[in-house]
Amino acid sequence: MGGFLGRDILSIADFSRADIEHILKVADDMVVDPHKASERSLAGRILATVFFEPSTRTRLSFESAMKRLGGDVVSFGGLEGSSVAKGETLSDTVRMVEAYADAIVLRHPQEGAARLAAEFSSKPVINGGDGAGQHPTQTLLDLYTIWDELDTIDGRTVAFVGDLKYGRTVHSLALALCNFDVDLYCVAPPTLQLPGYILSQIKERGRDVKTANTLEELVKDVDVLYVTRIQKERFPDAAEYAKVAGSYRIDLDMLREAKKHMIIMHPLPRLGEIAPEVDRTPHAKYFQQAQNGVRVRMALLSLIFGVIP
Ligand code: NCD
Repeated sequence: MGGFLGRDILSIADFSRADIEHILKVADDMVVDPHKASERSLAGRILATVFFEPSTRTRLSFESAMKRLGGDVVSFGGLEGSSVAKGETLSDTVRMVEAYADAIVLRHPQEGAARLAAEFSSKPVINGGDGAGQHPTQTLLDLYTIWDELDTIDGRTVAFVGDLKYGRTVHSLALALCNFDVDLYCVAPPTLQLPGYILSQIKERGRDVKTANTLEELVKDVDVLYVTRIQKERFPDAAEYAKVAGSYRIDLDMLREAKKHMIIMHPLPRLGEIAPEVDRTPHAKYFQQAQNGVRVRMALLSLIFGVIP
């Protein structure tokens, strides 16, 4: 298991199964309840959240996690209102931010941006999403949710539904799941299947992905249905997006044959992929999943800052 003190969190591929299991266990021990939380182990530390793309959950849960642990946050609200609007480069911005904080969470539309930032920063950089690349901390909360809801990750059948081409949460989670004994399925329009480089990495890890044409033919066999939004902002061409927009929707009818314990996950935000009436079923775990982001990010911050070994 790699040490976590001062470590960058750039890609889930950098984490072994032992690393992942350690983070999940530390996350499980985190006390999120404000009435019980007495430990302010990150008092005096500052986290910078630098987001060049919209975010609700990732940013707020990082900020909440840092504050629950007694730490502080400085925040960078995107292009307007910062010197990036004046043309400052990412490397210069990172050099400045690292002088004002002890760790940086970066979200950026360009793939590889977090890795680039880490080269310019002596402080740990956490990838909060780099274009269509990776979203490793989302993956950790996704894995935590599967483990917490189903007790084991091994032995599960996981189906990815939606935008598997541009969806960074899918790319990260698919690679992470290769550390476990799982069956992976993909259900997506032909133009939105997993990119070849992700498929190769899955194969290199000795795993395989099967493709299903419709969710209906698969739904009774899956333990985890991982639904994603079609990533409109990443389409080079609006007409291409229009062709696939709204191509699938999970509704009550579709769930009739699902296993009783089957869980539906979604990194959120959802558009029309999951009908609101599904929220009332015991399958719906996406809001709990988002809530788990706080304890998982508390665990990560505690590990990176070395207050937990
Ligand atoms: C996702 C993202 O930003 O990649 N959201 C998130 O962080 N929970 C998914 C998305 O935007 O569709």
